[in-house]
Amino acid sequence: MSAVKIADNVYWVGVKDRDLRVFDIIMPTRYGTTYNAYLVKGEKVALIDTVKKGFTEEYLANIEEITPLSAIDYLVVNHTEPDHSGSIIELLKRAPNIQIVCALAAKIFVQNVLNSDNNLTGLKDNAFIELGGKTLTIKLTPYMHWPDTMMEYLAEDKVLFSGDGFAAHYAGDAIYGDELPGEIDLDHEVHYYFDTIMRPFTSHIRKNLVKLEELDIKMVAPSHGPLFRNQANRYINMYKDWSVDKAEGKNQVAIFYASSYGNTKIIAERISTNLNRAGFLTPVNDITACDKMKARELIEESKAVIIGTPTFNGDAVKPVWDFVNLFSTVDAKGKKAATFGSYGWSGEGTKLVSDRLAGMKIKVMPEPFRAKLVPSEKELSEVDRFSGEIANFINEG
Ligand code: FEO
Repeated sequence: MSAVKIADNVYWVGVKDRDLRVFDIIMPTRYGTTYNAYLVKGEKVALIDTVKKGFTEEYLANIEEITPLSAIDYLVVNHTEPDHSGSIIELLKRAPNIQIVCALAAKIFVQNVLNSDNNLTGLKDNAFIELGGKTLTIKLTPYMHWPDTMMEYLAEDKVLFSGDGFAAHYAGDAIYGDELPGEIDLDHEVHYYFDTIMRPFTSHIRKNLVKLEELDIKMVAPSHGPLFRNQANRYINMYKDWSVDKAEGKNQVAIFYASSYGNTKIIAERISTNLNRAGFLTPVNDITACDKMKARELIEESKAVIIGTPTFNGDAVKPVWDFVNLFSTVDAKGKKAATFGSYGWSGEGTKLVSDRLAGMKIKVMPEPFRAKLVPSEKELSEVDRFSGEIANFINEG
C-alpha cells in the first residue's frame, strides 16, 4: 500500500502484514496487523517509527513517494520493540545523517539495536521537536508497554502519535477506524490488544493518561491498526475505564485451590472462614473450575491471593502452575500471597509456588502452611493461626 495523507503535510508511511496470524509468539491475530509509521513535514522532516524487518523495502518506498530519504532530519522512535525498530539499521545505511530522537529511557535500547550512540538524543517529558511550521511535543508514557515508550502530540494538526497505545491488530484496506467493514468489531479488537499487551501495566497507564488530558486531540494515530479521526478520545476514555484500580476500596482476599481428594479444599475453606471473620471478603475458587478471565479479575480485585496446591511427584499440579502464570498477565504489582496445601509424603508444591510468586515480585508469606493428608484437629487449629498471620501480613501494608 502507498503512502496516505492524513493531515496537511502529514502522511502514513507504514506497511500491512496481512498474513500475520500470531503476534509476539503469544497473541493470535486473525486480521493480521499493520506497522504504522508517519512522516511529518515542516521546514524539517520527522519520520515517526520504522517497521518490522522484512517489510523494510516497502516502507522505504512509501517514504520516498513523499520525500527523499536524505531529506529526513529526525527519526522519532516511540519504542524499540523490533516490530517498530526493525528497519532502523537499513534506514540509517541509506540516510546516515538522520538524528534519532527517543525517550531518555530508550537510549540504551536504541544503542543496543544500533550498537552505536551516534546521532542519538534522549528526550524528557514535554520536550519539543521543532520542525518549522510543525511542532511535536513529547509525552513520555513509560510501560505502555515498554519502559522506553513515548507518544508525540502534533499541535498544528491536533494529532496524537500514540505508539502501541490505543492500537489494534487489524490490517484491511481501510486506514481509519470509521472505514472498517461492518463485521469488524473494532471496540473488541482494541480491547483485546489492551487485554493482551497493556493490562499488566494498568497502574502506569493511569498515570500516563493524565498527561493526555490537557491535549486537544482530533486524531489518534497508533502504531498498529486503524487511526481514529472521529471520536478520537473514545479509546482514550476506554483505556481509562479498563485501567481503573479494581482493588481500590475492596477489602478482598481471593482463595484459589486445587484438590484431588478434598484435603486441600478443607484448608481453603477454613482459611476463608477465618479471614472472613477478620473482615475480608474471601471468594473461594477451585482452580480447575474457574474461568481464566474471572481468575484474572479476582487477582486484580484482591489485596492478596492465597493459593492451595497438593504435591504430586514432588511438584505443584499443572492447573496451579497455569493459574500462577496468570499473575504476569495482569497488574499484580503490590499484591500479597501465601500458599498452603495437603500432601502425602514430601510436600514441595507449596514452597515451589511461593518461590515462583516471589520471583514475579509478589510479596509472599515466608512459610507456606502444609498438612499431611486429612487435616487433623491440631492441624486445623494451626490453619487458624496461619490465617491470623495472613491477616497481619496483609494489614501491615
Ligand atoms: Fe508494537 Fe510493542 O510493539
